[in-house]
Amino acid sequence: MKDKAFHINGETSENYKKIFIPINKNELTKSEKRGLRQINDAFSNDDLIIETYDHKLIVFLNKLDVNSLKDLIFQFVSEQVSEDNVLLALLTKIENIKSYTYQGGKKVFVNFNDERKVKDRKAKETQRGKFFYAQDADFKVTNNAVPKEYENQIICADSEQLLSKMPENCIDLVFTSPPYNFGLEYDNHQDAMNWSIYFDKLYRILDECIRVTKYGGRIIVNVQPLFSDYIPIHHFISNFFIKKKLIWKAEILWEKNNYNCKYTAWGSWKSPSNPYMKYTWEFLEVFCKGTMKKQGKKENIDISAEEFKEWVYGKWSIAPEKNMKNYKHPSMFPEELARRVMKLFSYQGDIILDPFVGSGTTPVVAHQNNRRFLGIDISREYCELARKRIDQQDC
Ligand SMILES: C[S@@+](CC[C@H](N)C(=O)[O-])C[C@H]1O[C@@H](n2cnc3c(N)ncnc32)[C@H](O)[C@@H]1O
Repeated sequence: MKDKAFHINGETSENYKKIFIPINKNELTKSEKRGLRQINDAFSNDDLIIETYDHKLIVFLNKLDVNSLKDLIFQFVSEQVSEDNVLLALLTKIENIKSYTYQGGKKVFVNFNDERKVKDRKAKETQRGKFFYAQDADFKVTNNAVPKEYENQIICADSEQLLSKMPENCIDLVFTSPPYNFGLEYDNHQDAMNWSIYFDKLYRILDECIRVTKYGGRIIVNVQPLFSDYIPIHHFISNFFIKKKLIWKAEILWEKNNYNCKYTAWGSWKSPSNPYMKYTWEFLEVFCKGTMKKQGKKENIDISAEEFKEWVYGKWSIAPEKNMKNYKHPSMFPEELARRVMKLFSYQGDIILDPFVGSGTTPVVAHQNNRRFLGIDISREYCELARKRIDQQDC
């Protein structure tokens, strides 16, 4: 089939992953044969080699620009293509391979993590134990409905007090960014407290968040450390949740790409004595209550395959919110950040709580994406703004 010399004889080079596609018919169609010839011609032997042998395709796969393969295959596949089309089967099989790395725009399928291979990984995992710090948690497993008076509401209150009135285990997802105590100008919040006063208050609110979160629910906190004062707020918050026996599920790096930020200090200029590090990102710390698995109906999943594939990589490149001046709020996160969080970690119909709702970004995005919401803020002005933004969605 291919004039570039390559012989199977039961063995293949270690430089290839070998995959098989059964041919479930007597003969390949003309367009399948042409398609396979074109693939072999278009890609070098270093990338892949396809042979037909004993009613199957044998694919020797090394590295590949999968999008180019897709484009090529779709030149040979019409809309009424039959289910046993081998070109489509080949594409699906390659797209479903989960183990690869990227190099020079190609997926590399073999020999990419030889140095890091751990033998008997499963057995070692069982021996060590997973999330040991949360194994003896005793959260109640029975979940409750959120009372109607809290559903789809923006409430002006101190979150600690309001949340204390709510039943336990009634919120699917908490998504929030607390004030970071950087000294920003808020309407009704003093943002430069003594650190122990700040953390005491924050922990009391987060404690209430844990209480109202359902068994199997998630708490996701967007937080930026105060690098200039060497205060790792994201570590403090994560430690707090770990002590409370939540499971640390993930850390997402929100890359804001704001290289032109105004802070121009270098520390010890051109000297190792005390250089000042600069950062263009914030963190999202993702915690689960009781179990990693979140219950939900299949028909309420709204994330696409493409979104899922892109967003499970823990670095999200999203520009900062540009409308803060218009909205007169000093520290909003962008809608795209909330959209990804909700689609990746919650189902349609879930109820999403933001106890520091500010300008209302979380409820606006929840509303857009068929989730219910509860937003709380200490400022009347911000609550008004949040309600207005939500109402504008309905116009
Ligand atoms: C970082 S901002 C949240 C911004 C929001 N993510 C957005 O996109 O607009 C924090 C908010 O917490 C509010 N806040 C501070 N202390 C609070 C408390 N004890 N209870 C409720 N809200 C509070 C502030 O008024 C501020 O709007």
